[in-house]
Amino acid sequence: MSWIVRLMKSSLGAKYVVAVTGAGLFAFIIGHVGGNLLLYFGQDAMNSYAAGLHNLPYGLLWIARGGLLVFFGLHVYTAYRLAIQNKAARPRAYAFEDTLKASYASRTMARTGTIVLLFLIYHLAHYTFRIANYAGPYIDNQGRDDVYTMVVAGFNQPFISITYVAAMLVLGFHLSHGLSSMFQTLGINHSKYNPFFRKVMPLIGWAVCLAGATIPLAVLTGIIR
Ligand code: HEM
Repeated sequence: MSWIVRLMKSSLGAKYVVAVTGAGLFAFIIGHVGGNLLLYFGQDAMNSYAAGLHNLPYGLLWIARGGLLVFFGLHVYTAYRLAIQNKAARPRAYAFEDTLKASYASRTMARTGTIVLLFLIYHLAHYTFRIANYAGPYIDNQGRDDVYTMVVAGFNQPFISITYVAAMLVLGFHLSHGLSSMFQTLGINHSKYNPFFRKVMPLIGWAVCLAGATIPLAVLTGIIR
């Protein structure tokens, strides 16, 4: 285990940890937002999908949740540690703004990450633990957890929908930088594929976030009801 501690302590190792866990979390977000797009296909499609996940055999759901929690914990803890180290390395603000070359998204990673963390705490309280803005229980006519009606009831409240749309836009910013710099951090560098890493990956990140943002908007406008 000592190599893990050494890896985490070195700044390059810490960057690796942030990149690898970030990639894993992005894979989760693709699957999660993709699954939620089933809301467009109606109550039965959404609730069958949710029931399938809840009834996964061999405790797979809890294994996946555990893995997600470890990845998330490592990502947040290591990214904050790196941000604090970087700040300590240059305690006073630069006399001249020499960060013009760095994109806006790259300079605001800690801030956008913190907003996503706050969103996630609210999101889990809302739809997973069901202790915030929850008016259930919601059970469908087959006796299943009615995730469809729960989400529609949630997003019918404009303030909640707007909060989700804003969170998706902030997540888009966070991913647009994270996904383009990840390959550089991991030392994956190839003249032929670099444009893909730097340009296409952020677009994929944005596409996933914007697809997620359409869900609350579709409920608000009555497309999903
Ligand atoms: C508009 C977009 C989104 C919708 C409609 C949505 C919807 C949901 C719903 C309904 C649940 C509860 C599922 C259930 O209990 O069956 C859930 C859980 C969850 N969501 Fe989201 N979500 C969205 C975006 C996100 C984003 C962007 C993230 C990550 C940054 C996220 C992370 C999670 C996590 C970690 C859980 C807990 C999963 C579990 O129970 O193991 N969600 N989401």
